[in-house]
Amino acid sequence: MSLTRRRLFERLGSVAAFPMSGEAVAARGREAAEAEGVALTAAAQNGSTIRIASNENPLGPGQHVLDAIVGRFPEVGRYPFNAKQPEAAIVSALASMHSVANNRISLSAGSGELLVNAVRAFCTADRPLVTAWPSFEAPVTTANKMGLPVKMVELDGELRIDIAKLVEASKGAGLVFFCNPNNPTGTVHGAAAVADFVKQVRAASPNTVILIDEAYHEYVTNPSYQSAIALAAETPNVFVTRTFSKAYGMAGLRIGYAVGHTETIAEVNRYRMPFSIGLPNIAAAVTGLGNPRHIESERARNTAVRDFTTKAFQEMGYSATASETNFIFVDLKAPAAPFRDACREHGVLVGRDFPPYEKTHCRISMGTMEEMQRAVQVFRKVLGNTTIAAGQHGR
Ligand SMILES: Cc1ncc(COP(=O)(O)O)c(C=O)c1O
Repeated sequence: MSLTRRRLFERLGSVAAFPMSGEAVAARGREAAEAEGVALTAAAQNGSTIRIASNENPLGPGQHVLDAIVGRFPEVGRYPFNAKQPEAAIVSALASMHSVANNRISLSAGSGELLVNAVRAFCTADRPLVTAWPSFEAPVTTANKMGLPVKMVELDGELRIDIAKLVEASKGAGLVFFCNPNNPTGTVHGAAAVADFVKQVRAASPNTVILIDEAYHEYVTNPSYQSAIALAAETPNVFVTRTFSKAYGMAGLRIGYAVGHTETIAEVNRYRMPFSIGLPNIAAAVTGLGNPRHIESERARNTAVRDFTTKAFQEMGYSATASETNFIFVDLKAPAAPFRDACREHGVLVGRDFPPYEKTHCRISMGTMEEMQRAVQVFRKVLGNTTIAAGQHGR
């Protein structure tokens, strides 16, 4: 049964408001910002809170990676360039995985560092950042901090990146950010559409650098999708970013990378902080890359959890965008804030506001199946579909 906006407000009327202003949420500019931690520490310290607000992997990296991390501790007195397993070990592993030369790869402390440095490297007062909106906000936040111009391009009717409009806006841009799959909508464009986008931007604006963010690559199951890494490695002014924070389960370690054309990678590297990846993190990344079957099983696990959660919302009368990621963007037909506050009251932390969709949509990350089964009971209760089973309150 679906709810009208008014009825949802009535149901949620008694719920205590989350003690943080909308401005504070909007201003944070980082996924799972420190501000969220204020509420998190209070709510999550007993360990039963379901944290599905930040697109993390609820299971972490796996025992094989944890063992590798611990095994590297005895050598942490050494700098990464002077260690038995230096940073170059990740570069070699990535180069062989992607069949590219080492100088087409750049490492970073989380792919977010690359998004920041891309704006620093390629945007100027005359050459704006261009991005679909809403999308992952790090490039916009960086441009704003630097006082650089930003052009935001609205999504299409299915909340997908509108390629034609993005191409048009890219003329004269310093950097165009193309998030595929897109956060927060989870939608993806297929390989042919991405290749065509690159071709069109290069024709319309040859000096514009194209950044294709593939943070959620490992979760995609849509057969039309393919990574743009091979294309980027061969095309001037194009690069792809990836992260170990999602399917690899290493968000807390901070490891990301870019693959692209040699000169473009060299330009981004100028802004890189040297040796920002510690020895345990190097071991984690190399071990993670050496176990592709673990990532395949993570993809399958995530798909099953996402299907379960999407279906549960459908049964309640709510639809979600076609997500290819570890989160869904649900049309609540009502503002996200009261829903979020009510879920929080039941120990479930869902995503923040994503203007201009904060009045209708909420982003919900995937926890474990067991967590999502519990979370769905809370969603049903909050949306007025049923009561929560005994013992599920206040988690
Ligand atoms: C699309 C996208 N790109 C990049 C990032 C940055 O992630 P990290 O810095 O952990 O690699 C995120 C984080 O959620 C994201 O959603």
